[in-house]
Amino acid sequence: MAHRWTTDLTRADLTPERVFLNRRQLMAGVAGMGLSGLAATAAGAAEEEALTPNSYEDVTSYCNFYEFGTGKGDPSQYAHKMTTSPWSVKIDGLVDNPGDYALEDILSEMTIEERIYRFRCVEAWSMVVPWNGFELADLLNLAGVQAAGKYVAFETLHRPSEMPGMAYRVLDWPYREGLRLDEAMHPLTLMATGLYGKPLPNQNGAPLRLVVPWKYGFKSIKSIVRITVTDQQPPTSWNMAGPREYGFYSNVNPNVNHPRWSQASERQLGGGLFAKRVPTLMFNGYEDEVAHMYEGMNLREFY
Ligand code: MTE
Repeated sequence: MAHRWTTDLTRADLTPERVFLNRRQLMAGVAGMGLSGLAATAAGAAEEEALTPNSYEDVTSYCNFYEFGTGKGDPSQYAHKMTTSPWSVKIDGLVDNPGDYALEDILSEMTIEERIYRFRCVEAWSMVVPWNGFELADLLNLAGVQAAGKYVAFETLHRPSEMPGMAYRVLDWPYREGLRLDEAMHPLTLMATGLYGKPLPNQNGAPLRLVVPWKYGFKSIKSIVRITVTDQQPPTSWNMAGPREYGFYSNVNPNVNHPRWSQASERQLGGGLFAKRVPTLMFNGYEDEVAHMYEGMNLREFY
């Protein structure tokens, strides 16, 4: 598969339709998946403005990973202390095949893809990031989600000896996140293992982190060691720290303000201090793909 991220990109490159279609078409021309609809979305999006991924330098030096400190530069300075090999992920709860999965065994079963996603942080900056990874759905299918499963909970490595920021109780460690099962199974939801075609740097959540492009960045939990399928909505770190400010859903939504600031516009990182703010798109621009999951929900209540 060709790497497309060195040339000019369009909105069509942000969503994985092309990769998604190629992969599915290659895998025996699957019919009945609404492919024509997806192709139409891609064609329409291609007419929109061109966007360029942030530089490798931007993506790897301006990070949030509070286990290494709360400054944006702390993770790139201190995360090299984290040992990421060997690595295993405990998958438990309502699954047919619970256990400790060695990362290399997981990877041997997965199709690694390249996807360029828009990334929007709650603090009103955004980036465009070329990720490598596999669909979380593929991993959940490997574990075999049971019919009673409704949510998926995630936990980050808890290793204070290698994570100096954990000495400060800014969050209730370990870092925790969660998704509803349909969100977790959505084809846009990625378990990232790399960026720009290179292994994931520690500060970006090596060796395995979540990426959910229609949600605010804090949902993208890093350095995952545990995945639990449950029938209860799981607690999440930011919701526990500030329930009024951070809800469980955390969908990018220009119409619902964070209590302390507007969420209606954003500034793309790397454009300099005077980069112009652009309007934030509903579901971060992935509305066609994900809005159906929230039909009938009051998104002010479920923020
Ligand atoms: N995961 C862990 N374990 N700890 C964190 O502090 N920060 C979150 C998320 N995942 C965080 C985390 C926040 S607030 C953001 S915006 C993204 O990671 C940042 O990802 P990036 O540094 O790769 O851009």
